[in-house]
Amino acid sequence: MTRRTAFGLLALTVAALLAFAGVQFLAREDGTRAASTAPVDVDAFLEAHWGFPVEPQGMPPARFSPEEAALGARACGECHVTQYEDWQASRHSDTMNAGIRWQFHVFSQAESNKCMDCHAPLAEQKALAALDMGWPNAPEADPPPHIPGNLHLQGLTCAACHVRGHERFGPESRLGLDGGEDGLPHGGFTPRAAFSDSRFCAACHQFPDDGPRLNGKLRQDTYNEWLQSDYAAQGVTCQGCHMPDRRHLWRGISDPEMVRRAVALDLVGETAEDGHMNLELTIANVGAGHHFPAYMVPRVDVRVLLRDPDGEEREEILHHVIQWRATVDLSTEEFDNRLPAGQSVSLSARPRLPEDPDGWSVVLQMDVAPKEHYERMYRDMMRQADRMNPETVRLLRQAMAEAATLRYRALEERVALDRSVRLSLRHEALPHPASEP
Ligand code: HEC
Ligand code: HEC
Ligand code: HEC
Ligand code: HEC
Ligand code: HEC
Repeated sequence: MTRRTAFGLLALTVAALLAFAGVQFLAREDGTRAASTAPVDVDAFLEAHWGFPVEPQGMPPARFSPEEAALGARACGECHVTQYEDWQASRHSDTMNAGIRWQFHVFSQAESNKCMDCHAPLAEQKALAALDMGWPNAPEADPPPHIPGNLHLQGLTCAACHVRGHERFGPESRLGLDGGEDGLPHGGFTPRAAFSDSRFCAACHQFPDDGPRLNGKLRQDTYNEWLQSDYAAQGVTCQGCHMPDRRHLWRGISDPEMVRRAVALDLVGETAEDGHMNLELTIANVGAGHHFPAYMVPRVDVRVLLRDPDGEEREEILHHVIQWRATVDLSTEEFDNRLPAGQSVSLSARPRLPEDPDGWSVVLQMDVAPKEHYERMYRDMMRQADRMNPETVRLLRQAMAEAATLRYRALEERVALDRSVRLSLRHEALPHPASEP
């Protein structure tokens, strides 16, 4: 395995397969609406919509005002205020952070474009990245006014999901519009059921069957995991949990509240005659519609501790790491004990109790490192910093710092140490659209 394959978690062996189509701002001439020709069938629509690489939009129709023509998120936000604010706070607006951009200095343009298929899919974004990077295949002219100069840095921007050939695609309208009404901005829109379907997300959150695997398992298998869960049968989609009421939240492992809602924890302890306590901890995935956690990137640490009357931690009774853990180069799986949807794990311990338990307590903690795999990988790469240019090292340092600041404590609960101990932690269930009237 060459050094390079270790860089991206999802690094694909692509170079030879890439027929790189060239990056232009305005390859398509007309930019007319194709509403009537866009397929209605979900699979057919998505195949065209997410046919990577996404085609250039072309020139905006002449009848569009500058704000209707603009492809940047800020322009959409002038009218779609809630979606804009939600998106900005979501990780989808940060998919071109330092963690990916430093790798572009190591990868070729073709390889980087492959990464951008998921991280910044628009042809216009790839063209801007090419200008930034000084790659050979860059457009000759500056971007026209409807393409803001930072469009590539907006990551998974509104237009990447909603705009093709300057035509807006969205879910079935909740206002009862069919999108063709006279006088709608941006020439109306084309409603497609695919937007409310889990397959919409699978384009990026599921590898195809022949995608890269670790220990026989697809490295990204979120859609399949969901398909095998009860949620699929009940019609609870990805959007149902991650876009409740169509909010553009996409909260996941980086969000403490979301993670609290994913798990139920039960701690039961009984003191035995010999001065030990028989302790059992059960951790159940009650809220994630796929494995908890979904990917091999996050690490979740669950601990049970004994705390003395002064508040000092005296003993770690139990420590359980939940992760799909792989070596940095992804060659070897170390372990995979993620919890599939609906499943649980029980752990036991038999600590010796203090002579006088008065004032002592049992503490249950859950800590999350959402980017643990990358933290390890970045540290590993830093050892080769002397062989990288200063800009690469700067981005790598920034990526390390950003990944580390995402760590957080999701839970800490305490109960007085007594002959028997009981802690039961459950949080508000996620929205359940299937059960709504
Ligand atoms: C000048 C105001 C304005 C701007 C700018 C604008 N929109 Fe719209 N958009 C509307 C209005 C009004 C509607 C129709 C009413 C509705 O569905 O909210 C609409 C409808 C839509 C729909 C269809 C909603 C559905 O129910 O399926 C989508 C998707 C959409 N816009 C996306 C965008 C995107 C992406 C941008 C930026 C690239 C954008 N819009 C820019 C005003 C605007
Ligand atoms: C990752 C893809 C993605 C991105 C990025 C995205 N959207 Fe959406 N958007 C969707 C999906 C999917 C739905 C439909 C959700 C559903 O049906 O539950 C939707 C729905 C909408 C709707 C209809 C809302 C309603 O209440 O009916 C509008 C308008 C819209 N998006 C505008 C935007 C704007 C503006 C942005 C950027 C600020 C944006 N979207 C970014 C995927 C995306
Ligand atoms: C098939 C879609 C897809 C492709 C192609 C892809 N990624 Fe990703 N990437 C994702 C998804 C989904 C996530 C979020 C899940 C995760 O954390 O693994 C992600 C996460 C990441 C992250 C962590 C982001 C952060 O905030 O720290 C990095 C870094 C990254 N990818 C780099 C790359 C690189 C480099 C390539 C190209 C070699 C690449 N990706 C190709 C879908 C993709
Ligand atoms: C029943 C609700 C539910 C459904 C359905 C659901 N999710 Fe999640 N998802 C969660 C919760 C809760 C978390 C936070 C805990 C976790 O990370 O597993 C999460 C986390 C994530 C993450 C963060 C990455 C990680 O490593 O955990 C991604 C990405 C994700 N979901 C994508 C999807 C996609 C794609 C689908 C549909 C195929 C989907 N989710 C369906 C509830 C759900
Ligand atoms: C064009 C590719 C693409 C599509 C389509 C897409 N995503 Fe993502 N998604 C990503 C990437 C890349 C990331 C990584 C963001 C990061 O951490 O830098 C991500 C991150 C996420 C996260 C946050 C993970 C975390 O760290 O907490 C959730 C949740 C999520 N996506 C859910 C969805 C859902 C639900 C849909 C469908 C409505 C969807 N995504 C559609 C590419 C995509």
